[in-house]
Amino acid sequence: MYEQLLQPLDLGPTRVPNRIFNPPHGTTLGHHGVVSDDLIAYHQARARGGVGLIIMESMTVHPSYGFEEAFLYAGSDRIIAGLNRLAECCRAEGTPVFGQLFHAGRGVRLSHDGSRPLSYSASDMPDERYRVVPVPMPNEMVWELVASYVDAAGRLVDADLDGVEILASMGYLIAQFLNPQTNRREDEFGGSRENRVRFLREIINRCRARMGTHKTLGVRITLDEKTAKGLPADEVIEVCKLLEGDGNIDYFSVISGSSSSPEGWIHVFPPMSVAQGFVAADAARLRQAVTRPVLVAGRINQPQLAAQIVDSGQADMVGMARALIADPDFVNKMAQGQAEDIRACVGCNQACVGHRLAHYPVSCIQNPHSGREHRLGKMQPAATPKKVLVIGGGPAGMKAAVVAAQRGHEVELHERDARLGGQVNLAEALPGRAEFGGVTTNLQRELRQAGVRLHLNSIPDEATLRDFAPDHVVIATGAVTRLPEAEVDGVDMVDAWSVIRGDARPGKNVVIADWSCDWNGLGVAEKLARDGHYVRLLSGGSVAGESIQAIVRDHWIGVLHGLGVEMIPYARFYGAIDGSALFQHMTGGESIVCENVDTVVSCYAPRSLRDYGWAGKTGSFEIACIGDAVAPRTVEEAVLEGLRLAWEI
Ligand SMILES: Cc1cc2nc3c(=O)[nH]c(=O)nc-3n(C[C@H](O)[C@H](O)[C@H](O)COP(=O)(O)O)c2cc1C
Ligand code: SF4
Repeated sequence: MYEQLLQPLDLGPTRVPNRIFNPPHGTTLGHHGVVSDDLIAYHQARARGGVGLIIMESMTVHPSYGFEEAFLYAGSDRIIAGLNRLAECCRAEGTPVFGQLFHAGRGVRLSHDGSRPLSYSASDMPDERYRVVPVPMPNEMVWELVASYVDAAGRLVDADLDGVEILASMGYLIAQFLNPQTNRREDEFGGSRENRVRFLREIINRCRARMGTHKTLGVRITLDEKTAKGLPADEVIEVCKLLEGDGNIDYFSVISGSSSSPEGWIHVFPPMSVAQGFVAADAARLRQAVTRPVLVAGRINQPQLAAQIVDSGQADMVGMARALIADPDFVNKMAQGQAEDIRACVGCNQACVGHRLAHYPVSCIQNPHSGREHRLGKMQPAATPKKVLVIGGGPAGMKAAVVAAQRGHEVELHERDARLGGQVNLAEALPGRAEFGGVTTNLQRELRQAGVRLHLNSIPDEATLRDFAPDHVVIATGAVTRLPEAEVDGVDMVDAWSVIRGDARPGKNVVIADWSCDWNGLGVAEKLARDGHYVRLLSGGSVAGESIQAIVRDHWIGVLHGLGVEMIPYARFYGAIDGSALFQHMTGGESIVCENVDTVVSCYAPRSLRDYGWAGKTGSFEIACIGDAVAPRTVEEAVLEGLRLAWEI
């Protein structure tokens, strides 16, 4: 079924063993601009997992966009030794490694000292996302930048990487030169297409001269920036044809979106609301126009979809950034006929993109080992197999049970409901969020494979403990909903979880008292608006969804706007009386009165459930508490604590 996907391919002088590549993604695993042991272990894990090619994260090339806290810096020879070590380690597993070179131009969100640094671009056209006004680069600076790319490419060759990719996409510096909307220059780099493409062409042609013909040179481009005034696809195709005509390019890598606007940004890191494989049609279009191999990435997280894209000729290779963060062994599992064992990425963006944009190392809510390969090391079999009783079948309990069983312990898991999953079952029931249920599906499969004995509809009591005689008891009983302490009279008040479950039926006019500013408020607002209610969403932060990953939130806010949901920030709920819901502005102090209200839906702080007093009386075992049972947080912390605890037993 995956025959063609597993065929080798020549990208210029580099033969890649199969058609799946790991696209460039900033990991925040480098240290002070150079490769670290953490980063090597991270890529080594993916190389061991069978991926055909690793294209390393963006490396910056010039001090005008340095930021060594966030990016590897290829503008200095310090980069060479670490890169060399990384490439050697991955090649030892059969996986070639390319490096990507990058300059964001006006897209600057970082700082060296808290003050806003100058940013540079083709012209002074402002950026909509970071609200930056760049300095137009003087002509000699443009030539200096060209030289910096060439020097950086030389360093990657000196480090014996197999290839270099030039990032010319996503609205970053090179794309700012290509686009007449952002390039208003009057020198040889502005005006006609020939002039606007000169910056990229000089970089490519001079890099080739520096690199020789024994290393691969590719370019990453965007056909559809998904943004107003983005560069049209026809124009990009003409640019690619020009590059191909110069004879120095070995492949094109197609992506979607742009860093320059919120809607463009959503498509660079597409969350689960964006269709799987949505860039494949763009790649197919380019593939008709050029002869060099075309690579594509963007929400490809299933082997069947990957095979379909390659088999149908839409692209020559498919990229999987988040799919391999969630499961580094994706390719080996697929190749060995165990595709159903792949831990599919659910497109939540939380621990990968979310960590990266907050300057923390990338990881995965489902796979906390990701990004922690070096620090955690390999899972070790238990020195002495023990009996482990896990109480609670949400993500924390499931993960603890899986890892404990994988390490050789005898594990029983008791869940009081008829179904595993805990709060994931609520999150996946929201409109457009069904994919999130993959978290439970994946863990459930792992439980089965690890040999965990499962007891549904079961609350263990003293007799259970006596019979099983555990050495360790893990309390992972999660949290329950609660209502805020407020006076409510003459208006119905229900909690969001009851609404999601269908246990509560709100009236026509709904006010959501959104303390949590997370998926609860956004999700229940969307559900009720779609069901025909008039919805006002009053949130206790600067924006609804403030606590969740920004891209997921931004997309959701757009959906709610389209559904006519009224949103008010900084609103603290304090009561309801005779058809009015009462809030206080959290900074101004004034009252916000919502009239004509049938039902207040409360998204308030859940309460931990950890009544295990009986356990202390019953036997001699160690007891530990994890996840929301300690304090309500998210799936990420639940799974991480499950792993950490079971790692130590
Ligand atoms: C955490 C993270 C960082 C990224 N950083 C880069 C980058 O440095 N350069 C780049 O070209 N793309 C970057 N991307 C975009 C990815 O290469 C890829 O195109 C995108 O994630 C969509 O593919 P996926 O659905 O397989 O994750 C990044 C993606 C993620 C998730
Ligand atoms: S955190 Fe979510 S989006 Fe990121 S890799 Fe894991 S499952 Fe995928």
